[in-house]
Amino acid sequence: MDPIKVGLLGLGNVGSGVWEILQRNSEQIARRAAGSLEVAGVLVRSIDKPRQVVVPRSLLTTDAWSLINDPEIPIIVETIGCSGGTTEPARSYIIAALKAGKHVVTANKEVLAKHANELYAALAEGRGGLYFEAAVAGGIPIIKAFKESLAANKTQTLMGIINGTTNYMLTRMANESLSFADVLADAQRLGYAEPDPTSDVEGDDAAYKLAILASIAFEADIDVNQVYREGITKITPEDLAYAEQLGFVVKLLAIAKSDGDAIEARVHPTMIPAKHPLASVNDVFNAVFVQGDAVGDLMFYGRGAGSLPTGSAVVADCIDAAHNIRRGVSAPRNGHREPSKLKSITETSSRYYINLRVVDRPGVLATIAAVFGESNVSIESMIQKGQKQDPVTLAFVTHQVIERDLQAALDRIKDLPVVREIYNVIRVEGEA
Ligand SMILES: NC(=O)c1ccc[n+]([C@@H]2O[C@H](COP(=O)([O-])OP(=O)(O)OC[C@H]3O[C@@H](n4cnc5c(N)ncnc54)[C@H](OP(=O)(O)O)[C@@H]3O)[C@@H](O)[C@H]2O)c1
Repeated sequence: MDPIKVGLLGLGNVGSGVWEILQRNSEQIARRAAGSLEVAGVLVRSIDKPRQVVVPRSLLTTDAWSLINDPEIPIIVETIGCSGGTTEPARSYIIAALKAGKHVVTANKEVLAKHANELYAALAEGRGGLYFEAAVAGGIPIIKAFKESLAANKTQTLMGIINGTTNYMLTRMANESLSFADVLADAQRLGYAEPDPTSDVEGDDAAYKLAILASIAFEADIDVNQVYREGITKITPEDLAYAEQLGFVVKLLAIAKSDGDAIEARVHPTMIPAKHPLASVNDVFNAVFVQGDAVGDLMFYGRGAGSLPTGSAVVADCIDAAHNIRRGVSAPRNGHREPSKLKSITETSSRYYINLRVVDRPGVLATIAAVFGESNVSIESMIQKGQKQDPVTLAFVTHQVIERDLQAALDRIKDLPVVREIYNVIRVEGEA
């Protein structure tokens, strides 16, 4: 049987992993793909750049269209990514390949999250396939899990640690009582954080991945711009110490929930009980915790990035594509996508950790408790620190409350003469 040809766009971290796996496991891949996969060309920016892998120079090209327009190449693998604040040229390459009826495998969360409708329209026009297991949580097989293994379920909740950089940073901040700035500098030195860390630390990267995951899990058209996001820049070692004392850990969680009528999708630092399965996911590891109506609780854990883990997901998608090509079928259409209106963050409900700096005076606690009570915010637990000093810290955990009511209470509290500062507010998830 003739090999199936693959055009590989990009030979950086992910592209190199794809190349290496295709060489290293070629026999097994050929068996599982019902025929071998052969890289017919590799797009790079610079032909002469030293590479992590040995690729025949004759395969390297700087001309993407020579691969995308080649009728002998049915699979295009896009691993060039996005840089400089634009999704071009990755978006155009993917769309052109899909319109031409090719099977496109991509690791590019940003293009998928920002241009999903355009991509699906191109897919429908060309009747090829679009595969993106690697775009969310790297080596963890979560997209396929939702599309296939969990297809019988109504997903109720998904909560993920899907950004390795921030998980690494929060783990070190908690374990070593280090500040955000100190850990960021270290993470950048070690190559865990980009020179411009904004997309990771402000929650954008996790929001792209959440939009993709939630759109599959809830069969919904999720507008990534409507996904609420809040990064980890305001988290301090003090918050992490209070969390520990209250029996919690802090993680940057990507959360999506559906009650059947409305969907919420949000990314923010979150306190979860120390006994929650996500609490022990540390360093650069990723995990996705899922609650389905039939299956109950599940958790997927593994490496969310890296050359070989991400390459593993890309090559598995290539094997799927090869099967579809051999059988002469286009890939399943990624299901149904209902237009959806996401709940505004003010309509969501949660428990909250609230850290206030107040003057040390009799009656202060009663004053604050009264404001909470009048705004429908009830207190589950409280810690007071620093008696006989100014200011004193009051750290509260509330019962479940609608964010709108919480914000109304905080607006009043910040203006109380006895309150020096609202030091931090962090949402709390998971059973108490
Ligand atoms: N890194 C990870 O662990 C990981 C995990 C999951 C998903 N992803 C996603 O995978 C994609 C690739 O990430 P990466 O870390 O592999 O990126 P990378 O190391 O920066 O590699 C990008 C590759 O694409 C080539 N390239 C970039 N722009 C190009 C252009 N305009 N024309 C031609 N070639 C171009 C580069 O060529 P040169 O080598 O010649 O510069 C390089 O080989 C991104 O979408 C990323 O979000 C990455």
